[in-house]
Amino acid sequence: MWKNISKLKDRFLAITDIITLMNLLSAKNISHTFEYELFRDVSLELDKGDSIAIIGISGSGKSTLLHILSTLLAPDAGSVEIFGKDVQMMSKKELSKIKRDSLGLVFQSHYLFRGFSARENLEVAAMLSKQEIDDSVLKRLGIYENIEQKVTELSGGQQQRVSIARVLTKKPRILFLDEPTGNLDKATANEVMDIFFDFIEEKEAAMILVTHDEELASRCKRVYRLQDKELIMVK
Ligand SMILES: Nc1ncnc2c1ncn2[C@@H]1O[C@H](COP(=O)(O)OP(=O)(O)OP(=O)(O)O)[C@@H](O)[C@H]1O
Ligand SMILES: [Mg+2]
Repeated sequence: MWKNISKLKDRFLAITDIITLMNLLSAKNISHTFEYELFRDVSLELDKGDSIAIIGISGSGKSTLLHILSTLLAPDAGSVEIFGKDVQMMSKKELSKIKRDSLGLVFQSHYLFRGFSARENLEVAAMLSKQEIDDSVLKRLGIYENIEQKVTELSGGQQQRVSIARVLTKKPRILFLDEPTGNLDKATANEVMDIFFDFIEEKEAAMILVTHDEELASRCKRVYRLQDKELIMVK
């Protein structure tokens, strides 16, 4: 009988392991306040292949929530687990490795090195993450022809696409996208979203997208609205 119980236990462990392997990020009961309380008790699960959109009015705390989920900001309360491990429990070294290799951040203000060319910006990312620059991604993003230009010579939308190429060069497991297509026309924005969707499918990655564009949001598997300090699932 003990043998059977032990067998069952092994099986049970295997199942929980599989669930853990599927899960990339798990946020539990997150609350945060700046001048006013932004949100409380926000929980969210992100599995391989998932795409989640977060919408909500300006000032509702979407970017703040994304900063917390992407480990840039510690929440007042609650926890964030990445790859099954509590971020608060990670050593500085462990956390910087995860950030460098596995998390891809595209934020409202994109921080390219301004004195450098687009290619030099990508080379830094490629070197740090020991990956290759993928010319086919540059072609799809429509910046292949601009790659030798200085960042300051590029349009706002081109800079945004270089910052997207830079993040994808790392081949991250989780993409955190804050209005990644805010400077782009509709057709280009949709093409960029196609690239993100293809990427998460190919790399078994996942993404959390913050946007004001409900049409773009609805392309994601799940959509949440940050409203009245709560995160409400709307799709
Ligand atoms: N570092 C900070 N220190 C103090 N207050 C902050 C900080 N970051 C954000 N806030 C405040 O928190 C609130 C929510 O900001 P946040 O950037 O998260 O909103 P948002 O939903 O992303 O808005 P938007 O749609 O305009 O980008 C704002 O009132 C903002 O002033
Ligand atoms: Mg914001």
